[in-house]
Amino acid sequence: MPIRSRVESGPEPPLSYLCAMLKSTLIKAAEAGAKVMQEFFQGSFTISNKEGVNNLVTEADHASEKIIFETIKSEYPDHYILSEEAGEIITDSNTKWIIDPIDGTINFAHGIPICAVSIAVEQEGEIVMGAVYNPFLQEFYFAQKGFGASLNDKRIEVSRESTIDRACLVTGFPYTYLDQPNSPLDVFSRLIRKGIAVRRLGSAAMDLCWVAAGRFDGFYEHKLNAWDSAAGFLIVEEAGGTVTDYQGYRYSPYQPHILATNGKIHQALLNAINNENPL
Ligand code: IPD
Ligand code: CA
Ligand code: CA
Repeated sequence: MPIRSRVESGPEPPLSYLCAMLKSTLIKAAEAGAKVMQEFFQGSFTISNKEGVNNLVTEADHASEKIIFETIKSEYPDHYILSEEAGEIITDSNTKWIIDPIDGTINFAHGIPICAVSIAVEQEGEIVMGAVYNPFLQEFYFAQKGFGASLNDKRIEVSRESTIDRACLVTGFPYTYLDQPNSPLDVFSRLIRKGIAVRRLGSAAMDLCWVAAGRFDGFYEHKLNAWDSAAGFLIVEEAGGTVTDYQGYRYSPYQPHILATNGKIHQALLNAINNENPL
């Protein structure tokens, strides 16, 4: 039964109950999307090109999105939805689901198991819950605002590395946007010329979760969309990390730049990205 009819027909249930309902739907939706990913991963699927070079969408992205929508709508038919492939379902609800049915589609299409379902829940403009599920590595990341972050139900924390020289970083390169001043290639070049380890996985959601789990010390990317980052952003913050834009302001998934770190190397990496106080 949808929450809304319960609220209208009786006394308001306690917040913790509403959160537990939301969490349960979020987990069900992520698991359903991930199951579809696994089914397609074993067999064949169609791949088409979106706008730009190598910007792919597969049959699996659409199928994952469909089952995620069905799961959410069966319990919350009037919630707002923002999703990568289908776009927006605008309602006047103050709860919005932000969905990437497969983050890391190029990896997925090539049989590389670094890809995940990413779903966030936003309320009154704040991301309050996020889940990122990679079924191939069997890693389910979850965070609820104010309650910490977990990997497969075990609490996770960001790393303690305090020196950028010893850090292991990860980044991503957008499909467009490479030719601006201080571009992704310039920043990458500056860091690797200094001998700093910088990896590129191809899934922003996994990048963020691996910062949260303390595997990477920092992640930056010049142009992401809300569906790439909304869940992972909360997971990093709840694991004790810092997430900002390139000016150092608290991150919003509705602007392009992201810098997510363990907090200790944040300023040094911010300087390196902006080419201030050279390394
Ligand atoms: C992409 C991945 C990639 C990032 C791109 C995203 P998609 O998402 O997160 O790591 O570099 O900017 O668009 O297209 O695989 O869902
Ligand atoms: Ca994505
Ligand atoms: Ca995607």
